[in-house]
Amino acid sequence: MKKFLGLVMCAVMVMSLAGCGKTAGGTAQEGILVMATNAEFPPYEYHEGSTIVGIDAEIAAAIAEKMGCELQIEDIAFDSIIPEVSSGKADMGMAGMTVTEDRMQNVDFSDTYAIARQVVIVRADSGITSLDDLQGLVIGVQQGTTGDIYATDEFGDEYIERYAKGMEAVQALTQGKIDAVIIDNEPARVFITENEGLIILEEAYADEEYAIAVRKGNKELLDRINETLAELKADGTLDAIVAKYISAD
Ligand code: ARG
Repeated sequence: MKKFLGLVMCAVMVMSLAGCGKTAGGTAQEGILVMATNAEFPPYEYHEGSTIVGIDAEIAAAIAEKMGCELQIEDIAFDSIIPEVSSGKADMGMAGMTVTEDRMQNVDFSDTYAIARQVVIVRADSGITSLDDLQGLVIGVQQGTTGDIYATDEFGDEYIERYAKGMEAVQALTQGKIDAVIIDNEPARVFITENEGLIILEEAYADEEYAIAVRKGNKELLDRINETLAELKADGTLDAIVAKYISAD
């Protein structure tokens, strides 16, 4: 009965606010808020047994709850997220996704909910100490991420090795197949604790901000997301979620 009520509320919301599901022209289901992500990105989204957990997963759950929708998470390749959102297969893309001018051509972004940095991981014994040392070296990235885009621009395609998962790039680094990995700071911190002999350069590569992507022009959903984010920020929920996954040090 409870579930039934939830769905009804959600359906009403869809009709009155075009909230979750049924994004114009899309295939997302009514009553369900479909989040496209790439769950290879701790602490934002990753697998814990058969469930996807992390900061983004919890924020998305809170958004879905406020909208009276059921959250459905789709784990896909990172560079498929924007196409899924812009084609309406997913209602929102949430994947520690950096707001960029290019992406704004294809999707609309919510208010930002986190600040981040692209950092450089190297082997501790490599002698690499600064960004200048990276010239002419082979840099690993997760395909389609800002780390990929910026590094390809700066160092040239021939110096970039692309991996489906950030963790695979880090493993290749450990094995000496590549010289450095450029990736977001919090996943970097997680990955270096899981692989020995790696350090993060102090000098950050780029500063960025994360936001939630929706189909261009889906103002109702964007407004709902922004309202919810504002509430989660104001009542301390967002900080509590972040604190659960990231130790302050
Ligand atoms: N912040 C970077 C970007 O937007 C990397 C995000 C990767 N996220 C993920 N879930 N794999 O390009």
